[in-house]
Parts: sequence; structure tokens; C-alpha cells
Amino acid sequence: MKVRVHGRAKHFRTVSFDSRTNEVVLIEQRRLPHSFELTRTTTHKQTARAITNMTVRGAGAIGATAAYGLAQGVRAFSGKTESAFARQIERVYETLAAARPTAVDLVNAMNDVLVAMDEGKSIMQKQRLALKAAKKFADEDVAHCEAIGRHGAKLIKNGSSVLTHCNAGWLAFVDIGSATAPMYAAQAKGKSFHVFCDETRPRSQGAALTAWELDQQGVSHEVIADNAAGHLMQRGEIDLVIVGSDRTLGRTGEVANKIGTYTKAVLAARHKIPFYVAIPLSTIDWNLRNGMDIPIEQRNAIEVLSACGVDNQGRCREIRVANPASGARNPAFDVTPPELITGIITPAGIYKPRELWKFRRKLGGE
Ligand code: MRU
Repeated sequence: MKVRVHGRAKHFRTVSFDSRTNEVVLIEQRRLPHSFELTRTTTHKQTARAITNMTVRGAGAIGATAAYGLAQGVRAFSGKTESAFARQIERVYETLAAARPTAVDLVNAMNDVLVAMDEGKSIMQKQRLALKAAKKFADEDVAHCEAIGRHGAKLIKNGSSVLTHCNAGWLAFVDIGSATAPMYAAQAKGKSFHVFCDETRPRSQGAALTAWELDQQGVSHEVIADNAAGHLMQRGEIDLVIVGSDRTLGRTGEVANKIGTYTKAVLAARHKIPFYVAIPLSTIDWNLRNGMDIPIEQRNAIEVLSACGVDNQGRCREIRVANPASGARNPAFDVTPPELITGIITPAGIYKPRELWKFRRKLGGE
């Protein structure tokens, strides 16, 4: 996607790799929308930290970052024996896998890298194959998002209003985004439409990131408080909901996504508004059999008790909002059941959530 930097539009990927220096290059998402900066991680441990502290976030983006982080870690190996190399692979994999629990793209991406490395006959060959596989994952992520756009654009009618939650845009992927892909494709077809971005407390990815992206892209949009969606639906101001997902169960069609998604799905069903989920194939978990088994990240209470932003001087500030003596619960994701979902927009077409298993061959399940 093109970002205006000092008045000039330049193309960036959210995640890339500098093979000369063995560094992962990331857009520093914690500074957006107030400043646009790139940052580099030089070791796999730093890469894992960047995922944990949300320098980079969003399912596809952390998948690509973990894949590059695994390649980075195995390329840094300077020992001689195969057994020491195998131990290094395991250490790097475990460190990155522990960085965040809910998005399955992270482990799916690293598993692709492990499978590719198996073909190598020497340590050097395996190191080369690791980076090649990580790049392939990143390129496929872009191709999948493009295909989601092609399938999903028809859902957005001229003059309609679309609600989205959190950020499933290009910052959450390598480029383009999942929930935003149909919007960008509809825009390219000349359709005019309006997007409501849920603020998405407590970290405000909707207000900070999705709104910034849509602004860069010239898409008409407004930020709404998380609690405003029901009111707008009741007044007929929302025609369609499109969200992303961090883990979609291929066996059941249950969708884990940013906290608040389930609430919006219930509201959409009440008002008979179509509710779609857009995902690349790396977001499908073919193993879990029950949405209640999806690991839900529990984040620090301070995110709920306070708010972050910049002051008039452009300095980042965290201010306490809640009663000083109170604690908070902060589950970062929830699970939406298939009966509330109209369709899953995938790179291979749009499916009913419960059809995923039937079409698993087409959807990379075997
Ligand atoms: O906690 P985050 O920001 O990493 O959460 C991920 C998300 O942005 C959303 O859940 C998104 O809708 C799915 S990621 C494509």
C-alpha cells in the first residue's frame, strides 16, 4: 500500500526482510497514526519481542514476521553439527511460537518454513530454504488478500455503508489486508461507499490504524465508539459488516477475532445485516474441534484502565481513566459461532462457515 511520507506516496510492506543484514524490517505500529517509522530486529529474540509488544500485530503480519524470524534464527547459526543446528531450530521456533497465543497464522507460517527446510541436504541449504519459504509465505499472504478483494468486492454496493472492527487492513497483513481488501477492490471499480471503523478499545486499532489506512487510501470513513454500532444498525445506517479473524476453525466454522466481534455479530443478526469474515488460508486451524479451546490472550489490565495518545506537543501519553482503586479484565479476543456468520471470504471464494471442512482440499486443509 502507498503511504504519504513527507507529501510523497511510497509503497511499503508491513513486514519485509533484509537478507544482507539478516534483519526483519517492520512498520512500528505502536507509533501510528502519529508518526510513520520503520524499525529493524536483528535477532530472533528481538523479533519475538516485537510480536509480543505489538510493534507488529495482526494475524497475517505476525505470521510473516514469525516466518522471517525463524529464517533469521537459523541463518544466525554458526555451529558445525546437524544436532546443534536441530537444537537451534527448536529453540528459535519455541521462542517465536510463545510470542502471542491466539492467531494461528504464526505457527502455520513457521510450520511451512520447517517443511521447506526438510528438503535441504546440508545446514547451508536448509538456511537458504528457510528464507525462501518465509518470503513465499509473505508473497502468498499478499496474493491471498488480493484474491479476497476480487471475491468480496461484489458484496459492497454503490452508496452502501460498511462496518469493520479492529484492524484487518494492510497493517495486519503483509499488504492490502483481509477485511479491507473488498473495500479497496470496490474502490478500484469506482464504487462509492462509506466505512464505519469501530474504535476497538482497549488498544484502539480501529481508531488509530484502520482509520489511518482508509485515510491514506482516500476511502470515506468515520470512527465510531464501540457502543455506537447497535444504534446505527437500528437506524438503517449499516448495510454490511466485514471483519477479519485471528483463527477460524476449519472443522466448525467458529471465528476468533478481536474482542467485541461477537457482540457485533449478535447485533447484525438481530438487524438482518450480512456479517462476513475475510481470511487468508493461513488463518484456518484444521485441528481444533471446539471454539472454546482456542487460546484467548489475556492482556494487561492497564490497557482497560487507561488510554494512550499524543498530547499537543506530539508526546505519547498514557492517562488513567478508570477509578484508581479498581482492577480490570482484558480478554483480547472472542469467538463468534457459525450461525451468526453469513459467509467467510477466502482467496478461493466465499463459503458458509460450516462448509469449510467440506471444501478443505480447495482451502489448503490437506
Ligand atoms: O491484537 P491484534 O491487533 O494483533 O489483533 C488482531 C486484529 O487486528 C484483529 O483481531 C483482526 O480483526 C484480525 S487480524 C487480521
